[in-house]
Amino acid sequence: MTDINVWNKIPLNDYERHMQHHDVGQLQLLNSLTKKYLQKWNPERLLFLGISGGNGLEHIDIKKAISICGIDINKSYIEETRKRFGHKIKQLRLINADINSSNESFVKADFVWGALILEYVDIEHCFEFLQKNTTEGAILVITIQSNNGVESVSQTGIKSLNLVEDIFKVVDKEDLKQKALKFGFNLIDYEENILPNRKSFFTLEFIKNDKTPNR
Ligand SMILES: C[S@@+](CC[C@H](N)C(=O)[O-])C[C@H]1O[C@@H](n2cnc3c(N)ncnc32)[C@H](O)[C@@H]1O
Repeated sequence: MTDINVWNKIPLNDYERHMQHHDVGQLQLLNSLTKKYLQKWNPERLLFLGISGGNGLEHIDIKKAISICGIDINKSYIEETRKRFGHKIKQLRLINADINSSNESFVKADFVWGALILEYVDIEHCFEFLQKNTTEGAILVITIQSNNGVESVSQTGIKSLNLVEDIFKVVDKEDLKQKALKFGFNLIDYEENILPNRKSFFTLEFIKNDKTPNR
């Protein structure tokens, strides 16, 4: 029998309360980052990796978007996101799948949002998955967490979140850039945002197979 992924043991309510905690403040920051990059690229075919409860989906320009796909390993997260957004976003397609093992091509996205997902998956496999699920020239926006000497998963008193600590892997920015390049995703920009607990988020923007030299 295969082990159940830890994420299937964490109620969405626990995850969201943890992320909203004033010492953590991550849900709000991720929401504003999602808004910023959606407005910047105004995409037509969107893919959200590890969509969780759909934080930030309200910022999609639904008149412009042709398809919106969200993937998560936790079926109950998918169901809750469908309840929250299904009636407002008709193009929304939510898929319960494991990015670590899926070889499927669900979509051809021109914009991918992947916040705090690479910490929990095999990065190379994730890029293989992205190659199959994106168009040439697609924009990939990845947010990773930098701990700056603080523990990976902050103590907010929500016990189920302690489970995540066992599978959390710090993603090294340089290693990520190299792996991305190997799969044809070139870095075009990045930003750092500092959180209340001194951790920070690095948000990296990549373009797929952009041949522009000296970028
Ligand atoms: C730290 S949360 C980030 C959620 C959301 N992107 C955000 O920024 O709030 C990680 C999410 O990825 C999902 N996840 C973890 N491993 C996964 C996998 N192997 N395949 C698909 N989803 C996964 C979890 O269920 C969870 O919803």
